Amino acid sequence: MRLFAVLLPLSLLLPAFANAEENGVRAFTPCRACHSLDPAERGLPGPNLSGVIGRAIGSAADFDYSPVLRKARDEGLRWDAQRLETFLVDPAGMFPGLWMSVRGIDDAAERQALVRFLSDPASR
Ligand code: HEC
Repeated sequence: MRLFAVLLPLSLLLPAFANAEENGVRAFTPCRACHSLDPAERGLPGPNLSGVIGRAIGSAADFDYSPVLRKARDEGLRWDAQRLETFLVDPAGMFPGLWMSVRGIDDAAERQALVRFLSDPASR
């Protein structure tokens, strides 16, 4: 009886988690054209995004960033979950002159799933 009381709520919650993760994977699909999460992969049009949350803006090795991202790096700005989510609303609005010509993601749940996906190495 106790077990049932534990398992029932779990079985209701798990699909919700699985779904959020799947949405994060799906939301990242268009980004893969330009970004990799494999730390060893270089040479794509965009900087490597492995471990992006917590690192300084514009700091991926071997990537030649635009002046606006170099300036953000020189000012000591870092990517955290909140800043990344704000960025994804309107990337070039946050950094005018950005060399990433991708429009923002309107759906807040999709942005949050994408940020969670990028924060959690286990889900890659
Ligand atoms: C057409 C190629 C392209 C696509 C698609 C693209 N990006 Fe980018 N991204 C870039 C480029 C180029 C830069 C570097 C911009 C600069 O230097 O101004 C960048 C920079 C970034 C940065 C800053 C990285 C750092 O090291 O500071 C993040 C975060 C980012 N992109 C996330 C995303 C996400 C999330 C998606 C998908 C929703 C995405 N990008 C789609 C090309 C792309």
